[in-house]
Amino acid sequence: MATQPETGSLGEQIRRLGPWHQDIQLTEEFSTGQVFSPDGRLSREANRNVSLLTLRDNFVEHILHVYPEGLRGKRFLDCACNAGGYCFWARELGADFAFGFDIRDHWIEQARFVQQQRNVAPTDRIKFSVCDLYALEEKRLPQFDVTLFKGIFYHLPDPITGLRIASELTREILIFNTQTGWGEPDGFLKPGLEDTRALMSGAYGLNWRPTGPATMIPVLRWLGYRTAKLMFFRQQKNNPDGNLGRMEIWASKVPGLLDKYETQRTLFDE
Ligand SMILES: C[S@@+](CC[C@H](N)C(=O)[O-])C[C@H]1O[C@@H](n2cnc3c(N)ncnc32)[C@H](O)[C@@H]1O
Repeated sequence: MATQPETGSLGEQIRRLGPWHQDIQLTEEFSTGQVFSPDGRLSREANRNVSLLTLRDNFVEHILHVYPEGLRGKRFLDCACNAGGYCFWARELGADFAFGFDIRDHWIEQARFVQQQRNVAPTDRIKFSVCDLYALEEKRLPQFDVTLFKGIFYHLPDPITGLRIASELTREILIFNTQTGWGEPDGFLKPGLEDTRALMSGAYGLNWRPTGPATMIPVLRWLGYRTAKLMFFRQQKNNPDGNLGRMEIWASKVPGLLDKYETQRTLFDE
């Protein structure tokens, strides 16, 4: 039988701040995915229809392919950072500084809570801000070495402008991960509408999905990337209509940086 967390306890605070999308280890005992259910995991229904994902190990493994010594000396930017998981993991990998922003108070409140409570890895030299991607330029931030642009492209009414804003702040690597269309000729951005009230959604209502990786090649070249590699492009699970996919591309402004990185396909190289 499920037990109830004590009032004021860490478990109770985690629950109060839900729903959570990112499972982040806080202490030896608790992660943000912790709940007092028989199997210790949060179901989608109990999490207000938000999927809870464990993302750390995959991120760490892939960063270490490109930067075998870790991120020492690097500045890390996470666009639409949600609960800030990737900023904390970038600091675990030795990043000098990490900055994460998200348009929703809900997620930045979680990120700040994690920053206060996490004792299994460094939480200093990380900043979070409630900010719309389209307002990021107003902050006049110095450049970053590694930029994560994950789960945000397909929540924007003008995704090319959004990606340009992030790319102008990027010196080395862009990690680009987006939902896509599936089963249609590659080479287009397909418009759609989304519910702006959903916590995981965009704030504008209009969105665009690329129909495949070829769509992004001229865009990434135009933004100044010299090499791009496709990590994956696959049909999305749990999509009853079968018309959605997901892809991840790593693009570099520095020639050679992705050379040793074995991936599905090189999209362009110089
Ligand atoms: C699908 S989630 C992805 C979260 C995170 N990047 C990840 O991969 O786990 C989309 C996120 O984008 C945020 N978001 C949507 N529109 C935004 C905007 N214009 N500027 C900043 N964040 C935005 C949402 O609040 C939400 O946290």
